[in-house]
Amino acid sequence: MIKLVDVTKVYPNGTVALEKVNLEINEGDFVYISGESGAGKTTLLRLIHLDELPTKGTILYRGKPIKKIFKVHAWRRKVQIAYQDFMLIEDRTVLDNITLPLQIIGESFSSIYNKAENVLGMLKLRDKMYKLVKELSGGEKQRIALGRAVISNPELLLLDEPLGNLDEETAQIIMDFIEAINEQGTTITMSTHHMVKREVSTPKRLIRLKNGRIIYKGYV
Ligand SMILES: Nc1ncnc2c1ncn2[C@@H]1O[C@H](COP(=O)(O)OP(=O)(O)OP(=O)(O)O)[C@@H](O)[C@H]1O
Ligand SMILES: [Mg+2]
Repeated sequence: MIKLVDVTKVYPNGTVALEKVNLEINEGDFVYISGESGAGKTTLLRLIHLDELPTKGTILYRGKPIKKIFKVHAWRRKVQIAYQDFMLIEDRTVLDNITLPLQIIGESFSSIYNKAENVLGMLKLRDKMYKLVKELSGGEKQRIALGRAVISNPELLLLDEPLGNLDEETAQIIMDFIEAINEQGTTITMSTHHMVKREVSTPKRLIRLKNGRIIYKGYV
């Protein structure tokens, strides 16, 4: 589905965040991106989401360069991201934040409301619907960022450390939720420091980055 070919990213200050990365993400995959702080995980996700462009190399969707075949807004209907630092609108409600992708495509209010209720229920945040984001805890904000990414049912979900601010019990609930989405057919690419190892029916792929290079490709 997605293929990175010799992708290098050098930021304007000269930092080489990714170097000659080759990676294929297939439909239905669950791909963990691991690696220590600064390894390039967020950069990789941001490139796929078209927040940044590669300095060298190409990113393909079904064999064609994404940049050539999609406008950014069209691409974002297929691919959604939950950012490590949330990127929520602090002085708007949870409902407003979580439904932003649906508001953009002009869905009816009743449909938007029903989907929001459903997603917030899954994330155990139903009672926070009318709270302002700035009134939430870090772990609650993290779950809202995830909710906003999943609500429009994207083909590919990019999750940047989605469990980073959660206690173990909540992390488990959210991991179950993410796995269920994957089982329903959504392709998932998820960065993480800590690997969730447990018995699952389908193995997950594991990519390890170090200093911007892929040093391991395998399965967990
Ligand atoms: N906007 C930016 N401008 C310049 N350098 C950047 C920028 N964003 C990231 N970097 C640098 O690029 C490298 C990779 O950063 P990235 O955020 O992708 O790492 P990461 O693996 O997500 O780390 P973490 O686990 O801490 O989130 C780091 O050296 C970082 O300092
Ligand atoms: Mg990061």
